[in-house]
Amino acid sequence: MYSLEIEGGCSLFGEIDISGSKNSALPLIASTILAKNKICISNVPDVADIKTLIRLLTMLGGEASFSENTLYIDTSNLSKTKAVYDIVRTMRASILVLAPLLARFGYCEVSLPGGCAIGSRPVDLHLKALQKMGAEITIEEGYIKAKAPKGLLGTEITFKKKTVTGTENIVMAASLAQGTTILKNCATEPEVMQLCEVLQSAGVEIEGIGTETLKIVGSCGKLLNFPDIEVIPDRIEAGTYLCVGAITNSEITINRVNPNHLSSVLEKFQEMGFRLDTQTNSITIFPNYNIQPVQIVTAEYPLFPTDMQAQFVALATQANGISQVEERLFENRFMHVNELQRLGAKIEIEKNRVYIYGKSNLNGADVMATDLRASSALVLAGLVARGKTKVHRIYHLDRGYEKLEEKLTALGAKVRRVQN
Ligand code: UD1
Repeated sequence: MYSLEIEGGCSLFGEIDISGSKNSALPLIASTILAKNKICISNVPDVADIKTLIRLLTMLGGEASFSENTLYIDTSNLSKTKAVYDIVRTMRASILVLAPLLARFGYCEVSLPGGCAIGSRPVDLHLKALQKMGAEITIEEGYIKAKAPKGLLGTEITFKKKTVTGTENIVMAASLAQGTTILKNCATEPEVMQLCEVLQSAGVEIEGIGTETLKIVGSCGKLLNFPDIEVIPDRIEAGTYLCVGAITNSEITINRVNPNHLSSVLEKFQEMGFRLDTQTNSITIFPNYNIQPVQIVTAEYPLFPTDMQAQFVALATQANGISQVEERLFENRFMHVNELQRLGAKIEIEKNRVYIYGKSNLNGADVMATDLRASSALVLAGLVARGKTKVHRIYHLDRGYEKLEEKLTALGAKVRRVQN
């Protein structure tokens, strides 16, 4: 197992390129199950979650080659329809193959994703929507078994709660269904939008992209002719590197980003007193020697993303005053707090809210990564802590941050990966 050793207290400077979005690449790769042609997807981040999904599609009979952030994928010979436990347990987003497999083959089995570090994370909304489209679904021996021998049927579905992968799954189902599907209370994240745009270019009639109501006319089971795809920039990686600049009081420029996807995050930096220079595809953050405390409530896009919550909790330890962060999406997403406390942060948890008492002088220590974004909060804290911080279990970081040490080192940080 690997850890990341960070020598804190360095001032950083420079520019880095942001990678393609993991959370956009995942549904796009799953959607290729609906394609009749070989597809080239560029700007795919080389991270563990992507490799896991590629492995899953290969196990199902697809052919894929992935190098230098470009994926060639051909699912025309896909023959198997079972997503096994061993893969799904390592990555919950494997649930994204459920709807496209069902839509294409009329049958599939997908291991039920279990709970995860950040809460129970059910998939009931995905299943209810598929049932409304005519699927018969049973749970047997830990597997979701879904059948729709005559194909899925267009209908009207209102999601009880906004769900990102749930919306993506049902958009894929509707694309191959018979008739028109109207989806209400959809997630509107940029990753959902990109999936819709790609399916639209593949010939599916979709209205309302980027809004909460989508109208999708299905192809009646006919496979689609996909275009080549370029994955959008990773807004969460971008936000995390802006936090790297912010917490180390450094001038850092991030390139290859879409600032429009980051509005709520940029607003919070500004509220904390950071000056930003935002251009079409790049953002520079400047040092701020009097960081103001902040109030954050996580919510669905375009509001503040839960995937940036942990990083801002780390940053708030350096603010002068009391910050307050409320987590509204996941029930147990403060795993980073105990670890930050080990570094000397003064944070109190009260149900789904934390109070961060700044400014704390952090001191390096051994800390444990628990989930992807919680781990990045520990790296951020390590960059500003005095002495050496060792972040254990960095496989969590490898799931979603491409070339982390390389990018941090390029900015002047002292970090190295060590084997335990
Ligand atoms: C996606 C993102 C994840 C992000 C999250 C919220 C991917 C691969 N992952 O996860 O990084 O943190 O959106 O922005 O894109 N819910 C139910 N029943 C369901 C589905 C969801 O109750 O069937 C609840 C969840 O427990 C949670 C909320 O809905 O409280 C939102 O979850 P959801 O948007 O589905 O998250 P994911 O798609 O799993």
